[in-house]
Amino acid sequence: MLKGKTIVLGITGGIAAYKAADLASKLTQAGARVETVMTEAAQKLISPLTLRNLTHRPVVTDMFTMASEYSEEHIALAEAASAVVVAPATANTIAKLAAGIADNMLTCVVLATEAPVIVCPAMNDVMYRNPVTQENLSRLRARGFTIVEPEYGRLASGKLGRGRLPETARIIEAIEQVLVRKEDLKDKRLVITAGGTREPIDPVRHIGNRSSGKMGYAIAEAARARGARVSLISANVSLPEPAGVEITRVNTADEMKEAVERAVKDADVLIMAAAVADYRPEKMLPAKIKKEDAETIVLKLVRTPDILGSVRGNFIRVGFAAESEDVIANAKKKLTAKGLDLIVANDITAPGSGFDADTNRVVIIDRDGNTQELPLMSKREVAEKILDRVKELFPRKG
Ligand code: CTP
Repeated sequence: MLKGKTIVLGITGGIAAYKAADLASKLTQAGARVETVMTEAAQKLISPLTLRNLTHRPVVTDMFTMASEYSEEHIALAEAASAVVVAPATANTIAKLAAGIADNMLTCVVLATEAPVIVCPAMNDVMYRNPVTQENLSRLRARGFTIVEPEYGRLASGKLGRGRLPETARIIEAIEQVLVRKEDLKDKRLVITAGGTREPIDPVRHIGNRSSGKMGYAIAEAARARGARVSLISANVSLPEPAGVEITRVNTADEMKEAVERAVKDADVLIMAAAVADYRPEKMLPAKIKKEDAETIVLKLVRTPDILGSVRGNFIRVGFAAESEDVIANAKKKLTAKGLDLIVANDITAPGSGFDADTNRVVIIDRDGNTQELPLMSKREVAEKILDRVKELFPRKG
C-alpha cells in the first residue's frame, strides 16, 4: 500500500518529535519514499541527521537552502506528495495551517499541495482542549484534512491528559486509509442532508430540534475528500462550510423536500442525516403572538412529508435512525418501511452519542439485516465507515 508512495513528513516542535523518527523509519521500511520537512523548533528537539539516516533522503530544514534536487522546493514537494503527514503537529502549526499562514517550508508545502493532509496533534492537554485549538481543528476538518486525534495518557508535564501522539501503527493505519480512500468516490454524485428543520409558529418562533449538523457535515467533508461531487442540503447549521461542496440552505421540512427532489435528479446516493421535523404548525401566524392576548394557546400540528420515504429513484438511499430504546429493532423497521439500502442507527442516550457531540456510536444495518456495530469514534470516522459501506453497493446500483 505504501510502496512507491511519496509521504511528506512534517515534523514540528513538540516534545513528541522524537516519535516521528520511528514513524519515518516504519514508513521507509514499508517502501514509501519519505521526504522530511522540519520546522526550526523541531530541529531543537531532534536532529535532521537522524531523519536523514532513517529515510535515506535529504531533510528539508529551511526555505532558502539549495541542498536537494528540487528547484522550487516547496512546490515540487507539494506536487510529489501522495500524502502530507504532520506529526507531531503543535497548536502553533495547527493555527498557522488553519489561517493559511506560510512562513516556513512545512506550512508552504501544506498550502501548496492538493494531496490529502493528515494532521496528528500532540501537545499539553489544556492547549489541546483550548477552544481556539479546537476551532482551528474544525476548520481543518472542514477543508478535508484528516485529524488523527491524540490519545489519553502521561504527558511531558508528568500529568495525565489527552494530548499524546498516538502509536506509530495508528498513524500509519490512518495514512493507509487515506491513500486507499483517496478518489474512491470519484465522479459519484452524493446528496447529503444535515442539521435540523425549523417549522415556524409565527415570524419569530419555531419548532426545532437539537441536531447540530455535525454528522451530515462530516459525511459531506469525507465524501468530498474521496473525490465525490457533493450537494449538501443544510438546515439551520452553524458550522464552517466544507470547501468544494455545493451547499443549499433550507429551513423547513417542505423546503428540504423540494431541495432534495431537485438535487437527486442525477445522484448516485442520497444520505439523509438531517433531523427532519415530523410535525409542523398547521399554519404560520402572520404576526407575532402577544402574551397579553391569551393565557394559553393551542397549536395544531400536522405531519410533514416523509422525504426519505417518498423520494425514490435509481440511487442508493441511506437513512439515519435516532432511537432511545430498542435501537436495532426500531431501525430495521424504518429501513423496511422506507425501502432503504442502509440505515445508520444510534442510541441518542448513550454516552458520546448525543446531539452536538463530536463522537458517535452507531450500528449500520443493511437490507439483508446484517448489523455492523461500530465502537465510539469521531463523526468523521463514522462518516468514512458509512461511505465504505455505500461504496460496496455501487456495482448493484449500476
Ligand atoms: N426523515 C425524512 N423525512 C421526515 C422525517 C425523517 O426524510 N419527515 C428521514 C431522516 O432524515 C432520517 C430518517 O428519515 O434519515 C429517520 O426516520 P424517521 O422514521 O422519520 O425517524 P424518526 O423521526 O426518529 O421517527 P420516529 O419518531 O417514528 O421514531
